[in-house]
Amino acid sequence: MNALAARLGARAPKTAIILGSSLGALAEAVADPLIIPYAELPGFPLPKISGHAGKLFVGHLGGQEVAVLAGRAHPYESGNAAVMRPAIESLKDAGVETLILTNAAGSLKPTMRHGAIMLIADHINYSGMNPLVGQHGDENFVPMTDAYDPALRKRFHAAAEAEGITLHEGVYCWYSGPSFETPAEIRMFQMIGGSAVGMSTAPETILARRFGLKVAGLSVITNLAAGIEGASPSHEETKREGQKAASNMKALITRFLRDG
Ligand code: HPA
Repeated sequence: MNALAARLGARAPKTAIILGSSLGALAEAVADPLIIPYAELPGFPLPKISGHAGKLFVGHLGGQEVAVLAGRAHPYESGNAAVMRPAIESLKDAGVETLILTNAAGSLKPTMRHGAIMLIADHINYSGMNPLVGQHGDENFVPMTDAYDPALRKRFHAAAEAEGITLHEGVYCWYSGPSFETPAEIRMFQMIGGSAVGMSTAPETILARRFGLKVAGLSVITNLAAGIEGASPSHEETKREGQKAASNMKALITRFLRDG
C-alpha cells in the first residue's frame, strides 16, 4: 500500500482535482476534510511560487468523496516535466479514477475574456518536453486521442448549463514558461488552432492517461494573451483574476460532482 492510501484509511475518493493558481477557494469548500501536507506524502511536490499551497484535502464536495490537491509543481520550476508523476501515480494507486485539472490561462480569443472558464477539448504541447521521456515499455506510447474524456466534457457542459455559467471549450497550448509568451508566439498559437495558453496541465494529462485515469481540464481565463489588444500579462494579474473566477469554478465543479 502506498503512503497516500495508508493515510486515507476508510476514505476512498474516486475523483481528484488539481487546483491551479489562486483557485484555493475550492479546497476550502471540501467538507469534513482530512488535510495532509504534501511534505508528509512522498513524491508530492512542495510548490515554490506564490499563489500555490501544498496540501491535499480529502473530503466531500457535491456529495462525493474527492481528493483536492491545493498546489502543483510546474515543469518550469525544475526542468522536470514529470514532476507531478509521483503524485498522480499515488492517486491512481489509492483508487482514484478521474482527474480534474484546473489552471489559469491566457486567452487567444478576444471573445473569451478574463473571468471566463474554458473546458479543455484538446491540447498542443509546445513546450519541447514530455513527462514520459526516458521511460521504457510499451505502456508509454500513450494514445492522446480523446485525452480529455468526451463523456466528462458532456457532463461539464450540463453542469454549466444548470448553474447558468457560460462554458467555453477549446484547445490549451502548453508553453514552458516561466517567462510569458511574446506577441509573435501568441500569433503563432492563434494560427495553429489554440484557444488559450498556459504553463501546466498538459504534462499532467499525459501522465494521467499513462496511468489510465480519465481526465477533464478547465482553464480560468485571467487575461488576454500577450499582444492581443496590447495585453501584457503578469503573475500578479493571474493571481488576482484567478481568485475572482474561483467562485464560478467552485460552483461548476460542485454541480458536476453532485449531478454525476
Ligand atoms: N500565458 C501563460 N500562462 C498564463 C497566462 C498567459 O497569458 N495567463 C495565466 N497563465
